[in-house]
Amino acid sequence: MSTGESRTVDLTIGGKKRRFDIDNPTLPDWIDDQALSSGDYPYDDKLNRDKYEKQLEKLQIELVKMQFWMQATGKRMVALFEGRDAAGKGGTIFSIRTYLNPRSARVVALTKPTETEAGQWYYQRYATHFPTKGEIVLYDRSWYNRAVVEPVMGFCTPAQYDSFMRATPRFEKLLVEDGVHFFKFWLDIGQEMQLKRFHDRRHDPLKIWKLSPMDIAALTKWDQYTEKRNKMLEETHTKEAPWAILRANDKRRSRLNAIRHILLSLDYEGKDKDAIGEIDDKILGFGPKYLK
Ligand code: ADP
Ligand code: AMP
Ligand code: MLT
Repeated sequence: MSTGESRTVDLTIGGKKRRFDIDNPTLPDWIDDQALSSGDYPYDDKLNRDKYEKQLEKLQIELVKMQFWMQATGKRMVALFEGRDAAGKGGTIFSIRTYLNPRSARVVALTKPTETEAGQWYYQRYATHFPTKGEIVLYDRSWYNRAVVEPVMGFCTPAQYDSFMRATPRFEKLLVEDGVHFFKFWLDIGQEMQLKRFHDRRHDPLKIWKLSPMDIAALTKWDQYTEKRNKMLEETHTKEAPWAILRANDKRRSRLNAIRHILLSLDYEGKDKDAIGEIDDKILGFGPKYLK
């Protein structure tokens, strides 16, 4: 992994000047100490593992019932997961999909567009994977690449970005009007938490595959990401397709509330409201105002 060249970056976080070297195996104290509380996180500890696993199991039983109902009634679902690098999109999707039948619950995680795809209608390569009757499709990143990653990294033109921002509410309205149950989640993490997770990825042989050149490039682009995130929430949070925002520094709380939101929005047969429990509104909320 090491190229011999230093990847040390100088950052200003919360008014403090910080130096971060992802290749140094020792995680700096300022990151370790601030990670969980970063970005105004409302809890000062992670949810206890036992509690998490018990609640998750109940929710997974409900998800199984929900999938059965979707298949029996021919319903369709799309849920997309967005967030900065290392926000926990993949793990959240994994926790939803664990006990679902993979034939009708698919994950779509596309790589960068090919030449051919780049010449098509922007939404086309995503729409190819839309569900048929009874299917659940979970997008790990989605067309919203064009709202955040692409403009920040210079992968699209300003005109493409503007056109995306105008078209997307209309595109999603059509999807919802066709009867698809549509969810969109933004997983929000603080800056020190992101650094901690990048550092984990770099030094954990089981996670190294997740560390991408994009993560390294993102190190110094926190504020550009924030600006694009805010604009995305302002302009694409609609009645038909609202943004559910998860405060995701604690992956456990975030996953439980994501699943609860899906389950509470659907009227599947055998729904057990006590098993689902309530949404924690310190963890999940809607639209641009939630993060202010
Ligand atoms: P991930 O975070 O999903 O593991 P990366 O951090 O490598 O993956 O990339 C973030 C997103 O940016 C991905 O959806 C990827 O397809 C997209 N991307 C990477 N390079 C380009 C490019 N040259 N043009 C358009 N999109 C790109
Ligand atoms: P994360 O790094 O937490 O986003 O999770 C990434 C990977 O961790 C997933 O792709 C799974 O392989 C695994 N994972 C996530 N959640 C769970 C879970 N609840 N139980 C077991 N493994 C998990
Ligand atoms: C995540 O952890 O948010 C994504 O699944 C992977 C990434 O950020 O690179």
